[in-house]
Amino acid sequence: MFVTFEGVDGSGKTTIMEALACELRAQGHKVCATREPGGSALGKSLRELLLHTETKITKRAELLLFLADRAEHVATVIKPALAAGQVVLCDRYIDSTLCYQGYGRGLELNELRFLNSVATANLFPDLTLVLDVPIEIGLKRALSRADSSNTCRFEQEALQFHAKVRQGYLEEAAISPRFRVVDASQAFSQVLASCRAHLLSHLASC
Ligand code: TMP
Repeated sequence: MFVTFEGVDGSGKTTIMEALACELRAQGHKVCATREPGGSALGKSLRELLLHTETKITKRAELLLFLADRAEHVATVIKPALAAGQVVLCDRYIDSTLCYQGYGRGLELNELRFLNSVATANLFPDLTLVLDVPIEIGLKRALSRADSSNTCRFEQEALQFHAKVRQGYLEEAAISPRFRVVDASQAFSQVLASCRAHLLSHLASC
């Protein structure tokens, strides 16, 4: 089973995903918990470049770097883990590209859908949990955990950019049955309980 976690910066998806990975392991599942960008050996260098370079990157070059990260990640980490029967939990995947580079930066959505399918060789998630939070709350959380010298390029974007990204997630979730939207402005225990319920009901149906 391949599950992705998505949301605006500071939505809490990383912490929730780690907690669920621990729970699944405790129940005896083999779990591969990974992330984009940066889930492969090559991806670690690409992550640093994509999130922290001070060099200006054009929209299309940025897009292609995320896709290179994804192609390598799918081929060297995700597909082998799925083939070995593991549950793969991935912090960001194709929908981050649609929402950040598409809805956020304004690149053409259908072009991005096609390029995502090229990068992943058509490997789509079985389930996608979108942790939805008002952008002011998300950014406050994201900026409070990064020290001022370590904020990433995306956290420095204007509120309007993040609002478009959030809207993108909600629009994508409305048109595809693989999404579940969770209200991530609730207390951590409630967010975790909702995500757990979606995950377990999906596992049971597999
Ligand atoms: P995070 O992994 O710490 O959430 O940060 C990754 C940042 O990269 C986040 O701001 C979203 C952005 N991103 C994209 O813009 N496009 C993508 O395809 C991916 C995977 C991430």
